[in-house]
Order: sequence, then structure tokens, then C-alpha cells
Amino acid sequence: MAPPGRPDPAGGSGERAVPAALRAVRAFKAAYGGEPTHLVRSPARVNLIGEHTDYNDGLCLPVAIDRELCIALRRTDDAPAGADRRQPGGSAAAAADDDGVGVGAQLRLVSEQDPTPAVVPLPPPAPDTPPPARATGWARYVQGVAVQLAATGQLAGAGLVPWQGALASDIPLGAGLSSSAALELAVALACTHLAGSVPAPTELARLAQRAENAWVGAATGLLDQLACVGGIAGHALRIDCRALTVTPVPLPAGLAIVVIDTGSRRELVTSAYADRRADCERAARALGVPALRDLDALPADAAGRLDPAALRRARFVIAENARVDAVAGALAGGDAEAAGRLLLSGHRGIRDDFEVSGPELDAAVAAASAAPGCFGARMTGGGFAGCAVALVDRDRLDAFTAAFEPAYSARAGREAVLHVCSAVAGTSVTALR
Ligand code: GLA
Repeated sequence: MAPPGRPDPAGGSGERAVPAALRAVRAFKAAYGGEPTHLVRSPARVNLIGEHTDYNDGLCLPVAIDRELCIALRRTDDAPAGADRRQPGGSAAAAADDDGVGVGAQLRLVSEQDPTPAVVPLPPPAPDTPPPARATGWARYVQGVAVQLAATGQLAGAGLVPWQGALASDIPLGAGLSSSAALELAVALACTHLAGSVPAPTELARLAQRAENAWVGAATGLLDQLACVGGIAGHALRIDCRALTVTPVPLPAGLAIVVIDTGSRRELVTSAYADRRADCERAARALGVPALRDLDALPADAAGRLDPAALRRARFVIAENARVDAVAGALAGGDAEAAGRLLLSGHRGIRDDFEVSGPELDAAVAAASAAPGCFGARMTGGGFAGCAVALVDRDRLDAFTAAFEPAYSARAGREAVLHVCSAVAGTSVTALR
């Protein structure tokens, strides 16, 4: 979950046309001189259905999309002869940096959007470091992953290798597309790859989630991390958050996934998220089950056992889990119309029972579902603001856009940005030479 107001590590508007991978390589050369040796690419995700189900041990159906965060990097303990180990600003490699830590004993990541780099001394801080002594902004995610890697022995004793990197990203921030999970997974893969000890994707995802839960302090589920790391081209991912299994669901060829960035962002999303999670846990306790996942329907006496908020949350989660399998089945069977109808009913549930929609999200869903070629739409992600997702007939995208844009601005009083997305592979690392 990306906190609003976090400095943008990426997403520059001026150079939009230049791929993030190329911008990361350029930024690396500008910051350090010499060539990077590796490129890590980590996709955003959009969740088609199965919202707020992950921390209820339930089901979700995300897609890793072709909006990505890239890190170009090079290890600094064995830099090839002739490579310049300049720090940003040109200081020599042998010199200590601003933090008093030599370049060989740290992870350092510069970003095209933030003049302050993320710097993690090695070994990283202890996991019980008090929050005021932790990094702030996007650097928290980098630090949190390093802390978890060191603390959990995830590197099988190989230890963290020092590296320097440069980050560029096309993932809008605070929009519900998991820019933070993409960053966490990119850093986790960079570290484990350089150490020669990459864990299984599920383990990598859990490690990134621990960084977010225990270090950053957001009590999120595993949806974002599993979606980023587990992406498969052309497929949605049916994720069972209890069994931790990821099942690919083929997307119909003629179907376009349109992510609608409503342009809205909200403060205080983290506390509302924690409130919803507490409502769900209260409901599960009152109904005598380990998690809402364990219910296929509300018991007949549910209204007498639950307070009104817990009743609405439970009703939504139970229906939402069922919708995941229904949408997965519809997509696998090529029935985009059925999938679209299920998205619309999911939106009604998340708006009325889970109460995490927002005016711009409702406006986007109304404008999209009335536009030609649209099978259905819903808000996506944590909620309140950010993005909606629409399933649209690929052959009618122009007509969809032409109708959607004026209808949305008339309803919402602002412009939306449409991203027509493809399903892509998950976080990966490539050797550049
Ligand atoms: C955020 C969280 C996820 C998930 C979604 C809602 O994205 O990070 O774990 O709970 O909200 O589905």
C-alpha cells in the first residue's frame, strides 16, 4: 500500500515515452558513471476481483501489468576495473558518503524523481529499530526488505552483497497499483540474485510483505506481492491466500484491461484499511471461524451475532470470494460479458457493504459501464481513491474512450488517465553484460 504523499520515486511525466528500463540505465550512468551489470524489472498489478479478501485468507484475481518499475544496478564489492564508483555529485568511491558509510558497505539507490537516495548500511539496522530511527518515504521499503533479508536468514547464509542502483518507474503512486510492492520485490530480487540465493517466488513475496507489515507498519495482505512476483503474460492469477497457490487464468484474446486512474488520492487510507481489517477479524471471531474464508454463506442468525458494520463486511467478503471463482471461470471460458457483470456486482458490494469506494471511483465505474464496448468495471485496490478497472472489447476501445472521457469529467469534475494494459511476467532480473 503506497502511502499518499510519499516522494515519487519514479513516474516522471516528461520522459513518459522513454521506457523505464532505459531511464534506469541512463540514471545509473549519470549517478555513478560506468555501466550497470543487471536490470531488475518489477510490474504493477491490477486486481480484477477479490478485494480485501487476502487478509481474510481468501481468494483474489490480480493481473501483473505492463507498467513497471526498473532498477539498473551493479555490485560495489567487485566493480570491474576502470568502472567509476562516483557517488551522486561526483565524490570518489573510496570516500565515505554523507552517512559516513563507505560505498562498499551499503545498498544505495537513486531515483529519477527524488534527489535523496535510499541508503542502507550493511549489515542493515536491527528489526526492532524504533520507528523514528527508520528511513522515511520510499526509502523505507528498500530498508525494510534489507532488514528482513538479514533478519530472517533468507539468503541462506550468503549475506547481503553491497550494490548501487538507479530506479525509474511508470507506476503511478498512491493509485492502488502496488508501486510499493513492485519496489519491495525489485529490491528483494536484486539482493538475493547478487547473493546467488533466490528463494521461491512465494517466499520472496512473503519476505516483501513482512517488510511492509513489520518495518513500514502497514498491515496489508499478500495480494500485491504475490501478484507482482507471480505475473504470467496473457494471464490473470487466481491466488488462494491461505494455501498460497497461484493458478494462471488465461485472458480472452479480444479483451482489453483498461486501468482508469481517476486522479484522486486520499490521506488516512492506512487507518481506514486497519479498521476494515479489524471489522473482518471481529466478524470471524463472533461467527466462530478462523477467518471469513471459512464461510460460504452467512449463518441465519448472523444479524444477531454481529454488529451492523461487521455484518456488512462479512457479507461482502463471503460474496467476493465466490465472485473470484466465478470471474476466473468466465474468463477461462471466454465469457467476458459474465465476467463484466460480476465486476459490477463486486463494485456494488465494495461500495455499499465494505464502504471503501469514493466519489471519483463511483463516477469512473458509472461512466465506464455506460460506455460502448465495456463489459463491466469496478474500483480496484485498497479503495477510497486511485484506480478503477474496466473490461473492454479490444475492437471498441476508441468508442469506449470517446464516450468515457467526457462522461467521467462531467461526473467527477476532473480528468482521468486511461491505461490499456497487457498481462506480463512477474519481477525478473537480467544480466546486462
Ligand atoms: C491493498 C493491500 C492488499 C489488499 C488490497 C485490497 O492493496 O496492500 O494487501 O488487501 O489493498 O484488496
